[in-house]
Amino acid sequence: SEEIKLVVFGSGGVGKSALIVQLIQGVFVECYDPTLEDSYRKELTIDGREVVLDILDTAGQEEFHTLRDQYIRHAEGYVIVYSINNRNSFDEVETFIKQILTTREVEEEQFPNAASEAAIVIVANKCDLENERLVPVDEAKKLAAKYGGFTFFESSAKSKSNVQETFVAAAKEVVAK
Ligand code: GTP
Ligand code: MG
Repeated sequence: SEEIKLVVFGSGGVGKSALIVQLIQGVFVECYDPTLEDSYRKELTIDGREVVLDILDTAGQEEFHTLRDQYIRHAEGYVIVYSINNRNSFDEVETFIKQILTTREVEEEQFPNAASEAAIVIVANKCDLENERLVPVDEAKKLAAKYGGFTFFESSAKSKSNVQETFVAAAKEVVAK
């Protein structure tokens, strides 16, 4: 069956690995064990079509960023994660967007239509921590709209909210492009 290559980006500790492990194994990982690089496979049926997601889990911590360009070239679709209780992680999202578009040779004039050029899903994770929220949902929606309407979800690896939806949406966008 068809293979779809996704990569998950985002600052350290936002819950990239927790989302992927929740998707694949159906459990919430409580402990924080920073990732170097992991890859996962998941079989899915999308619109009656059997696909295999090949998901690359990357390191959020700065010291490993040299590999980013390679990851971008390797992948077909991108999930960019921030957490609603970490302002800095949201500010980083646009940096990831720009790096993906630039590496994929999308012209800067095309950035306002980038959603039709690149399969990018923006994810606001840890939405179970509503009482710790520092990033209003409107700001994320505005950012998604600025690039022509990237798909956006609020998720929680802990409460399982929008976990499967996120990865299915990313896969669907790859298939559609
Ligand atoms: P790096 O690998 O260093 O880039 O971090 P990461 O983005 O993979 O973060 P990770 O998945 O390891 O999660 C970091 C911490 O946040 C862990 O203690 C998780 O249990 C916690 N966490 C992840 N997702 C959620 C969530 O949706 N809600 C809550 N409350 N905690 C979460
Ligand atoms: Mg991780």
